[in-house]
Amino acid sequence: MVSSFSVPQRITHWLMAALILFNLLFTDAMETAGRLMFRGQALTPEQVSAANIHAYVGISVLVLALIRLCLRFAQGVPPEPVEEPPFLRMVARVGHWAFYALFFLMPLAGIGAWYFGNKTAAFAHTGPLKLLMWALIAAHIGGVLVHQFYWKTNVLKRMTSGVN
Ligand code: HEM
Ligand code: HEM
Repeated sequence: MVSSFSVPQRITHWLMAALILFNLLFTDAMETAGRLMFRGQALTPEQVSAANIHAYVGISVLVLALIRLCLRFAQGVPPEPVEEPPFLRMVARVGHWAFYALFFLMPLAGIGAWYFGNKTAAFAHTGPLKLLMWALIAAHIGGVLVHQFYWKTNVLKRMTSGVN
């Protein structure tokens, strides 16, 4: 059984975290473009380019998620620490799989909105999926902090420098 996430798993985790947070926080250009597009108004080439940064960052998340899923199946992941109560271990596992679902659903809904002008996809993207992503991130960081400072387990190390 592995004791740490592999180096490629760690790199994809932090790279994806950065890309996702970028797209969650810097939304101005895409929001303006989306508004104009759904009103049937013309976009300047500059507006399209600025919005495309959001689109390409999001598509990178989709591609990295595929790679990460392959890594997970090929290399496995370390087991949840035994210090953690069984119920919370299950919560962590469900949360991680919910993240994986969002890594696909969020970009796919964005693609539906941006490239196909689909209003339902846009609603899902900017409403429930966005909310769920924020909620999971908050719970995830909270969980890591509890591990680090309450249970004092090496969970953070497994995703940073690695545990021997
Ligand atoms: C993990 C990846 C992504 C994240 C976290 C993300 C996040 C966001 C957020 C936070 C907004 C603003 C929501 C609001 O109005 O409050 C937004 C809007 C938008 N995103 Fe993304 N996005 C991602 C991927 C993509 C991709 C791949 C595309 C297209 C190729 C895309 C297209 C759009 C469009 C068109 C809007 C505006 C929709 C509207 O105004 O109705 N997104 N996204
Ligand atoms: C957008 C932000 C983030 C996302 C989407 C995310 C997603 C994930 C996912 C899906 C896993 C499960 C492991 C896997 O299957 O690859 C994981 C594990 C982990 N994440 Fe994050 N993460 C984010 C931010 C962070 C931050 C800010 C921290 C540090 C405070 C962090 C620390 C960890 C740790 C320590 C693990 C390992 C948990 C374990 O050993 O079971 N993550 N993350």
